[in-house]
Amino acid sequence: MTAAASSVKQRLIVALDLADPARARSLATLLAPEVGMLKVGKQLFVNAGPDIVRAIHDLGGEVFLDLKFHDIPNTVAAAGVEAARLGVRLFNIHVSGGREMMRQTAAAVEEVCGNEGLRRPSVLGVTVLTSLDGPDLEALGMQGEVRTQVVRMARMAQEEGLAGVVCSAQEAQEIRGACGDSFLLVTPGIRPAGQQAGDQKRVMTPGDAVAAGIDYIVVGRPITGADDPVEAARSVVAEMKGGL
Ligand code: C5P
Repeated sequence: MTAAASSVKQRLIVALDLADPARARSLATLLAPEVGMLKVGKQLFVNAGPDIVRAIHDLGGEVFLDLKFHDIPNTVAAAGVEAARLGVRLFNIHVSGGREMMRQTAAAVEEVCGNEGLRRPSVLGVTVLTSLDGPDLEALGMQGEVRTQVVRMARMAQEEGLAGVVCSAQEAQEIRGACGDSFLLVTPGIRPAGQQAGDQKRVMTPGDAVAAGIDYIVVGRPITGADDPVEAARSVVAEMKGGL
């Protein structure tokens, strides 16, 4: 693992995948002191807008803005600048947007942070969506194994100045080998030991994820859907400690 995520609870990101901003705020109030970051994705952001990010910051929480930007370089770079101004710690863009899109975004974020004295967010790459398999890639005209494609895209992201990638537990070790220790690995599809996988097909426990050197784990429903979300978050952190 890297020095980027120092204490264990700082390495837990809770996905606030909720339509209701009031419920998101109340969960954020409970969870902000318990975890490293709260993930705001498309559903919540489209409904609640940047105010939900500001509200989390007001609670002392940190935000991973999971909007997966993908557009022409100028547009994604401009969106990245606004994410930096909003003060998020992490945001992500699609590697399939190409080298120029990644390079311009990383450069624009660095520049605005320097000019305006802002903390620099880490920009993550999204490689191959885990909803796609080999035949899906082939239909899109991409040959070869999904794994090979994922590792190739992770290297490209690193070469163009991105801080890390979102990856599945299965790919983490290969990417770590290809991209080194300081490249951030952020992994969803984590399920506490003994819990149902739900719609996640390839799951890993929090302890195994930490043992595999994953920097940040993303957990949604096992925490947000629990009767006691604080207790659920603490028990995930306890499991993570088991992987140290
Ligand atoms: O509720 P659950 O723990 O499955 O939430 C995982 C979060 O990570 C969700 O926000 C989901 O959209 C996201 N995610 C994922 N698999 C990916 C990429 C992102 O589950 N490959």
